[in-house]
Amino acid sequence: MGFLDKHAVLERSPTLLLTFSLLVVTIGGIVEIAPLFWLENTIEEVEGVRPYSPLELAGRDIYVREGCYNCHSQMIRPMRDEVERYGHYSLAAESMYDHPFQWGSKRTGPDLARVGGRYSDAWHVDHMSDPQSVVPESIMPKYAFLSQTRIDGEHIEDLLKTHRFVGVPYSDAQIEAAYSDFRVQADPDGDTDGLLERYPGAAIANFDGQPELTEMDAMIAYLQVLGTMVDFSTFTPDASR
Ligand code: HEC
Repeated sequence: MGFLDKHAVLERSPTLLLTFSLLVVTIGGIVEIAPLFWLENTIEEVEGVRPYSPLELAGRDIYVREGCYNCHSQMIRPMRDEVERYGHYSLAAESMYDHPFQWGSKRTGPDLARVGGRYSDAWHVDHMSDPQSVVPESIMPKYAFLSQTRIDGEHIEDLLKTHRFVGVPYSDAQIEAAYSDFRVQADPDGDTDGLLERYPGAAIANFDGQPELTEMDAMIAYLQVLGTMVDFSTFTPDASR
């Protein structure tokens, strides 16, 4: 009996076939899962990626609350059409501080992973308030109420603490300064040195152009940081990891 013929024995006995299938699946499963217990980190760390500033984090919460992810993904796949349209493909490290992540696969609107810096703050205000005023064929809903909804940052410290609880490495200093950082990011005349030290590269502006701090400020602060943390002119992927 040849070696392959022995397989016929397995094929003819359901019990044997089931037993051996389970064995094969178990071995495969262990090979895939076991190394994860010995790896310290499965995400390649990339220079520039930092936790969100308090105002960006608040904007992110509004993004999740409004369900923007129902129409927008935040993950550029390494395929040519995507890279040419949206920019460098997304790195795992770029969403390592996202809880929950916003990758998604539903793209009624474009991917937003690298929308930061692509438009001015004023464009975002116009677009969020009335998308059809800038893109006539747009089917995006209006979010004008964001400009009319004030935020005071009352619970911002707790928000940072919650994210620290799930693994975002906010320092004590960052948590202590959460409230002032939250306010000063939307105030170009304020003392922003501390904020920039804690959150390098954070965009500082009166995002919505109004004196009050509103949900629109937070949302635009968040949109403007998306995809801007890593400098891709110097980034080289570490293939050995
Ligand atoms: C019903 C689906 C839908 C929802 C919900 C939605 N959008 Fe959009 N969005 C679109 C479409 C379609 C476009 C492309 C046309 C346009 O620019 O308006 C778009 C475009 C955009 C753009 C411009 C992107 C680019 O690269 O040109 C931004 C920024 C944006 N949306 C942000 C948001 C935010 C923030 C939310 C949640 C508050 C949101 N969208 C909710 C459908 C949606």
